[in-house]
Order: sequence, then C-alpha cells, then structure tokens
Amino acid sequence: MATLTTERLLLRPFRTSDAPSVAAYATREVFWRYLPLEPLTVETSDKYVGDRVAGGMPDAEGTWTFAVERHEGGPMIGALSITVRGKARHSASLGYGLDPDWWGKGIATEGMRTVLAFGFGTLGVHRIFATADVHNERSWRVMERLGMRREGILRGDKLVRGEWRDSVLYAILAEEFAALR
Ligand SMILES: CC(C)(COP(=O)(O)OP(=O)(O)OC[C@H]1O[C@@H](n2cnc3c(N)ncnc32)[C@H](O)[C@@H]1OP(=O)(O)O)[C@@H](O)C(=O)NCCC(=O)NCCS
Repeated sequence: MATLTTERLLLRPFRTSDAPSVAAYATREVFWRYLPLEPLTVETSDKYVGDRVAGGMPDAEGTWTFAVERHEGGPMIGALSITVRGKARHSASLGYGLDPDWWGKGIATEGMRTVLAFGFGTLGVHRIFATADVHNERSWRVMERLGMRREGILRGDKLVRGEWRDSVLYAILAEEFAALR
C-alpha cells in the first residue's frame, strides 16, 4: 500500500539507511534556491530521514512521503509527497524534490503522475494542489506536464532568505485527471 511503482521508479517509505543519500543532494544550495528553508547538513539530513521513518505513512499531519529509487538500482534520489488536507479530507497538496544530478529526465513528472493517481484513487480526494515560487520554472513545468491548471498567484506567500516571494498555485480535480488517461 505504501509502495508505488512506475516504469522507471519505485516509490517507497524512507529507511534510516537513506540518510547519506539525502545528505548528498539536500546539502546543495541549488536544491533550496526557491524554498523558504536553508540547505540541510549531514546532521539535519539524519533528522529529516529519522522523522520520516518514525512518523510513518501517513504521518500525524496526513503526509505520505515516498523515497524515490530507480529500478536500475543505486541510492534513493529524491522525495515525493502528498498531504491530505482539512477535516473533510477532500483535498491534498503535493511536494517534490530530486537530487539535481537527476533533473531533466522526467523523473519528477513520472513519479508525481503516480502520486496523483494514488491521491485520487486510494486516498479518494477530489482536488490536488501545489504551489511553487513564480521563478521556480522547473517546478511549475512539472505541474503543467501533469495536467494541473494554473489558478493564480499568491502574493508575498513565502519568505525566502529575507525576501517575500510570490507563488503560483496549480490544481487538478479528480474528473480532470480521469479525463487525461
Ligand atoms: C522541481 C524538480 C523536481 C523538477 O525537476 P525536473 O527534472 O525539471 O522535472 P522532471 O523530472 O519532470 O523532468 C523534466 C525534464 O526532463 C525532460 N525529460 C526527459 N525525459 C523525459 C520523460 N521521459 N518524460 C518527461 N520529461 C522528460 C523534459 O523535457 C524536461 O526537460 P527540461 O527541463 O529541459 O524542459 C527539481 O527542479 C527539484 O528537485 N528542485 C528542487 C526542489 C524544489 O524546488 N521542489 C519544488 C518545490 S515547489
């Protein structure tokens, strides 16, 4: 149940042994360029992984975080998440981040398409949304490739290293996702 498979990827729960792989990419500044957090360190990578292992699937906030592994083998190369929102549990939000060495290969799009199917199917939500910094073009292009629609701009949404940044909001409804298939 907490494991998803795509053509190239296995999406699975985190393991304690993923900490060095997370540290290999999440300590890089380029990964955090548009995000309101500082790069991880080796120590905080350990904590990040430990929290996800301890938190379970889903965790107390309703988040399912999948570690991304390639069927070809090698270390995990990123994390994809979906969080069920609200008391009625009718909507969910997305998160995703990959090792920069693996950008430009369609991996985020391929993985998130299956996470969307998991959200609409297994989790039974009606609306799935995500936001990205207006300049984080790689991120909003993933959402466009997934068939999500741009709904608007959230002004001054995130404080990124001292600067208030605008976000773009994208969403897709269950019937829109079903019509894509
Ligand atoms: C957001 C993020 C995951 C996007 O990664 P990405 O590699 O650009 O996205 P994808 O995996 O979908 O790859 C798309 C690229 O692969 C190419 N590609 C190659 N093979 C492909 C395939 N089989 N299918 C789809 N695209 C393919 C596409 O043409 C596209 O290339 P382009 O960037 O030159 O246009 C990545 O930039 C990231 O981890 N950023 C840091 C964290 C972050 O900002 N997360 C988002 C928070 S809102």
